[in-house]
Amino acid sequence: MREFLIAGNWKMNGSSAANVELVAGIVAGVPTGSGFSLLVCPPFPYLASVVEQTKGSPVKVGAQTVSEHDKGAFTGEVAPGMLSDVGCDYVIVGHSERRALYGETSEQVAAKFQAAQVAGITPILCVGETLEEREAGTTESVIDEQLGAVMDAAGVGAFAAAVIAYEPVWAIGTGMTATPEQAQDVHRHIRAQLAAQDGSIAANVQILYGGSMKGENAAGLLAQPDIDGGLIGGASLKADDFLAIAQAAAGIQ
Ligand code: PGA
Repeated sequence: MREFLIAGNWKMNGSSAANVELVAGIVAGVPTGSGFSLLVCPPFPYLASVVEQTKGSPVKVGAQTVSEHDKGAFTGEVAPGMLSDVGCDYVIVGHSERRALYGETSEQVAAKFQAAQVAGITPILCVGETLEEREAGTTESVIDEQLGAVMDAAGVGAFAAAVIAYEPVWAIGTGMTATPEQAQDVHRHIRAQLAAQDGSIAANVQILYGGSMKGENAAGLLAQPDIDGGLIGGASLKADDFLAIAQAAAGIQ
């Protein structure tokens, strides 16, 4: 049985003071019950302090990107081993903002995915189409290319220790959310792509939805059979908003 993962992607937001307040609110309000876990992904400078603040709580910590290299002359980059060293459990790879704004290719994303796993970090692989691609009817082929690059490089077995996030680019930060049916269609497709190679990996991998998920729409999305949680941007920056989504997950279990 797959559990829900409710993950907050803080993006480039926060400060020492604001984070302390946000994390305290989240830790204090974790819903009771089981069948879900919570994750926050702060910017790099705050990872260690958020790890410290969440110690002893069920809230896990992840990073938002990572280098594909393990060390050396890569100014400005952060190695996967550094993330595990400071206590991260997860890292987001291939977020559409990384792909669009920083030119990350699917091959690079695959390398980051593999490097994270070598360091014992669970990658959260983001895939998703733009509005133009959806309107052109190419959603599935876009997803297949993004997912396929990682399956080719790492093998389907690597998804035993990975999470996938379907994030339609047109729904990110726009207030437009995929309907539960639109999201479910793509989630089902992603799972089928994995199942074509390994049924048990496909049945167990968590596939999160991301794109303007909030308290009001979370229950409908999370009720879909192939949606196993959320990767949440805007609504992860206020404890109450984030917890409302966690409550929806707790209520479905
Ligand atoms: P959003 O961001 O919830 O603000 O749409 C989601 C994401 O980009 O991970």
